[in-house]
Amino acid sequence: MCGIVGYAGPKASAPSSRPVDVALQGLARLEYRGYDSAGIAVIDDGAVDVTKRAGKLANLREALGESTETSGRVAIAHTRWATHGAPTDGNAHPHVGGRDGELALVHNGIIENFAALRSELEGQGYTFTSETDTEAAAHLVAREMETTGDLTEAMRRTAASLEGAFTLLAVHRDAPDTVVAARRNSPLVVGLGDGENFLGSDVAAFVDSTKEALEVGQDQVVTVTADAVSIIDFDGHEVTDAKRYTIEWDAAAAQKGGYPSFMAKEIHEQAAAVADTLLGRMENGSLHLDEMDIDPSVLRSVDKIVVIACGTAANAGEVAKYAIEHWCRIPTEVELAHEFRYRDPVVTEKTLVVAISQSGETMDTLMAVRHAREQGAKVVAICNTRGSTIPRESDAALYLHVGPEIAVASTKAYLGQIAACYLLGLFLAQVRGNFYPDEISALMADLEKLPEHIQTVLDDAGQIERLAEDMKDARSVLFLGRHVGYPTAMEGALKLKELAYIHAEGFAAGELKHGPIALVEEGQPVFVIVPSPNGRHSLHSKVVSNIQEVRARGARTLVIAEEGDDDVVPYADEVIRVPATRTLFAALLTVIPLQIFACELATAKGLDVDQPRNLAKSVTVE
Ligand code: F6R
Repeated sequence: MCGIVGYAGPKASAPSSRPVDVALQGLARLEYRGYDSAGIAVIDDGAVDVTKRAGKLANLREALGESTETSGRVAIAHTRWATHGAPTDGNAHPHVGGRDGELALVHNGIIENFAALRSELEGQGYTFTSETDTEAAAHLVAREMETTGDLTEAMRRTAASLEGAFTLLAVHRDAPDTVVAARRNSPLVVGLGDGENFLGSDVAAFVDSTKEALEVGQDQVVTVTADAVSIIDFDGHEVTDAKRYTIEWDAAAAQKGGYPSFMAKEIHEQAAAVADTLLGRMENGSLHLDEMDIDPSVLRSVDKIVVIACGTAANAGEVAKYAIEHWCRIPTEVELAHEFRYRDPVVTEKTLVVAISQSGETMDTLMAVRHAREQGAKVVAICNTRGSTIPRESDAALYLHVGPEIAVASTKAYLGQIAACYLLGLFLAQVRGNFYPDEISALMADLEKLPEHIQTVLDDAGQIERLAEDMKDARSVLFLGRHVGYPTAMEGALKLKELAYIHAEGFAAGELKHGPIALVEEGQPVFVIVPSPNGRHSLHSKVVSNIQEVRARGARTLVIAEEGDDDVVPYADEVIRVPATRTLFAALLTVIPLQIFACELATAKGLDVDQPRNLAKSVTVE
């Protein structure tokens, strides 16, 4: 939620527009985090100069026009996902603080004690012009600066007095070379340049300029100038062990690369995303997960697994449940992270919690991680974003290697999460002796064929694209599946809802007859995800029966089935083929036509698939 950029420079050779240009470029990279408004502040000719506009970044660019030159050396900027106050120009960030407008500040998160702070500040004569919680922080830093004359100390005192979650960045006219920032429960990274330094909600904010980054820990204040970066904690102690790292992907990965949208690009990157996630995990016939820092004896004693996640990541967790229970025989629950700690879950030292989060910053998931660790559980994070909070606060981390996911709706990270869950399941099976090494190798060999199969599905996208165009006026679409087809159905419905704003529901196919079948009427489109006919039990024939049940009631059946599965043909209005694979691994294939369907249908409706309404990429509020 909310994207934040800070810049201190400019390097000697840079044009005078550099602070504004860097800030705007950073905002463009971070716009996926929120797009209700955008704004920028610079210190120009000794005064704070703020420009901000409701709506997307284009509105801010238009307001700035050609005037990106500045005599100043610092900039802060913000793209907003509204929490307190409507998305208006006045509520947009930066907010100005102080009696004379001497400070500007941007904020991500929620300040829970803002009402009390606001009335205290109003009592002291400070004027408020917005409905936001942020403005209180702006006045507080300005007030502390009046007292101390030191922007770092002013920020430290302010941050220590705030409750809630926040990343704050501020500039002050009396410290024209400096950007100061603080974070608690909200992301912030430093970009280390040559004669210039950067701040961002994530590395995308500055990856065009530098690939060297520095993590900022919980409850820390960072002070950045063109030539120096220093960090203290909220108690004022110097921090000397901040972790430095190199960003593994380049700026091109954060661009559309010829595709009409980031989402289309990311869907088409999925073969590589899964291949990269699986890469280098097998060594001398056994599976190695470098980031798995939990002692094998602890993993052997695990008697229950709880997967915590939200949204798409939770659907990946549902797939993990099928795999882990089947391979490892460990009871596995999947819990929406925001429900987890409120139901007083039974978690012990023998519980392994698996937290799945693309961003690594989802507040609901982070809070569930903290709760689980307080109960003594070990936590493994499955995450795409290095240096983010959830893996940092977990006992072990398993990173996807899918590159930056910019489109708000998750696609390639979903496949990466599923692949990583398979790796975790196989690793646990290896450690606990459920499989012999040759069985693990055979499963891994089959898994490694998936990127090729994914590419086949992507290459055959024409049929699903035509279907989406044809169905752009549909008012409701249902999705059915069993086994891993069930989370796939849920994910297909979620994609359609969030992108095309169409009523969509995913059901376990067996549940239909217990009520939801009442929704089926003449012409109702129903996607059915059919498991392999070569799989176990009677799963396949049961799903074929479910297709017949809805067709008999007038449904238009859109059937996703394995190559060569002819049993479905008599009951399908449309058959969408995917290559044959193990029943469990089909989750990496059957969802792809559903992702393409949602993306194409939303595009056909003229909607913005990368930035659907009301959403944000990284949900850092509870
Ligand atoms: C849907 C989507 C969301 C996220 C959810 C969790 O397309 O992207 O449902 O999956 O907000 O986000 P992360 O994985 O960052 O914790």
